[in-house]
Formats: sequence, C-alpha cells, structure tokens
Amino acid sequence: MLKQEIEDGEASLADPAFRADVLTGLASRPRAIPARWFYDHRGSELFEAITDLPEYYPTRTERAILVEAGPAIAAAVGPGRAVVEFGSGSSAKTPLLLGAIEPAAYIPIDISGDFLRESASELAAQFPGLPVLPIEADFLRPIALPDGIAAMPKLGFFPGSTIGNMIPHSSVDLLRAMRASLGTGAMLLIGMDRVKDVDVLVRAYDDAAGVTARFNLNLLERINRELAGTIPVDAFAHRAIWNDMRARIEMHLEATRDVAFSIEGRNFAMAAGETIHTENSHKYGERDARILLRAGGWTPISEWTDAEDRFALILAEAQPPRLAP
Ligand code: AVJ
Repeated sequence: MLKQEIEDGEASLADPAFRADVLTGLASRPRAIPARWFYDHRGSELFEAITDLPEYYPTRTERAILVEAGPAIAAAVGPGRAVVEFGSGSSAKTPLLLGAIEPAAYIPIDISGDFLRESASELAAQFPGLPVLPIEADFLRPIALPDGIAAMPKLGFFPGSTIGNMIPHSSVDLLRAMRASLGTGAMLLIGMDRVKDVDVLVRAYDDAAGVTARFNLNLLERINRELAGTIPVDAFAHRAIWNDMRARIEMHLEATRDVAFSIEGRNFAMAAGETIHTENSHKYGERDARILLRAGGWTPISEWTDAEDRFALILAEAQPPRLAP
C-alpha cells in the first residue's frame, strides 16, 4: 500500500466530531477546543490519576459526602429506582450510591466505550442480580432509555462536578435534556463544586506533580495521533487561571515560542504567549447552584456538603411545571 493510502485509512478512523471541533476551534479567536475531547483512553487514565492528587479535593470530598449522606439519600429517594449515570467514566463513586439505596437497575452512559464496558462489567460483578445496561452515547444529546426500565422511577446521577465544564447556558440545556430523558417525577443527584479560596482552586488544577499538565497536554498528543497532527507538544505549557467574573477555573495551553504545525494537511501558526482554551470548571455558591437547577427544570429538595463546604451533592426533583405563582 502507498503511504498516502495508509494515512488516509488511519485518518478516516478519527471521530468526525473531534476533527470538526479541533479544526474549527483552532481557526477561531480565541482558540478553544471543548473539554470533552480530553477523555480518550489515556486522558481517562490521567483523569483517574488527578482524582488521587493531594491538591484535587473534589473527588475525595464528594465520596466522603456520599458515604456520610448515604442513609439520608436512601430515605429521600426510596427503593426501586433505575439509576441513570451521565458520563459514568470509571463509575468510581457508583458503588457508594448503589450500595446505599436499593436500586432496580443501573444504566451507565459514557462516550468512551472501552472504559464504559470495563467498568460496567466490574459493577455487575459487584452487585449480582442488579441489571446493568450500559449505553455508549454522548449524554449531551437526548437519550432513549432501554424499554425494560420505562416503568421504573428514575434517579439521574451526575457526580464529579462535570456540570461545571459547561457554561451556564449549556448547563441549562443539559439539565432540561436530562429532565426530558428521565421524565416528570424523576430525581437527580448532582455534584457541584463550590466557590472557595482562589489558591485552593488554582492548586487543584495546577498540581505540583504535573499530572494535570500532562492531562491538558494529552489533548495535543491525541490530535497528533488521531488527526495526523504535527504539533510540537514540548512548545506548549499548561496554564490554570481563576476567572472571577465568570466564577470558573480555566485551563489553557500556551505556546512558549512561535510555532507552526499542520493537522490533516491544514496549517496553523501561534505566536509565543498565545493560548488554546481547553477547559472551564465553573464553581457554584449555594444559591447559584439552586437557581441553576431551577432554570433547568429541577426543584432542589435536599443537599449535603462537607464540613468545610467545599463541595455539594444536591438532590432535585422533576416536578410538573407550575407557571402560576
Ligand atoms: C471532570 C470536569 C469534574 O473540572 O474538576 C480536573 C476535570 N480538569 N482537573 C474538573 C478536570 C482538570 C474535572 N471534571
């Protein structure tokens, strides 16, 4: 086979949505690539490593809240719910929830199929008799749930402060889509990271061991791998900054010198100091969190936090709309 044919063959394996987001994002000003593309197999592994970092408090804080609030959550949601997890990843926190309540089924939804199947089978082994029905999908789009769970009351589970990756406008769209997928009467247990001391926030996204930097830079390596890119990865540096006006941590990849590269034959150039914006992680105060949920069609009914109020788990319900005061 000719080299060009081989390259074409490989290029055609790339996700067309990834290609479109990268090519459009690098042609836009400011340059930006959506954070969802961090999570190839390597990126998912690096994210798991982040969750073990001493500076990255959200995962262990949320886990501790789940353990402590387990009985109260069980009392609030009742038995027999189908638990639908959006962006399940490694399902690391799921056993804590499934063990605390009496679920009727578990439906993990994730965009990364390999990871999804791996963790779904581990979970099925851990909870014998519980139907586990994984769905490989992008949870930003409406999802058709399996027929078998149609009659069951639903509990959406969206831990990890993943909602923080979206701008509020898109968060509301997502919350409404979840409401549409799960139906009136469903409940949603959602994790949101609180606004707090700026140093604590910045350190959580710029750790001393450099794991978050590798996670951010892996996006460039993924582009080189999957989109025939020639990006000189060593010419980029990880940056994490607090945007106070928007109440979010932003991650960027900054060119440390003038660079030129190509992606699938298209040429790009960046001057030293220019950045690619790769992630937002919005933080929500207690009233911010509640108003966001209400805007998305969910009525908050209970919430649990840690002693330092670093992180919140909020239980909300999809009540029938009531327009009159
Ligand atoms: C998976 C979106 C919750 O925003 O804290 C961690 C991703 N990025 N460190 C977050 C992330 C850098 C994480 N979420």
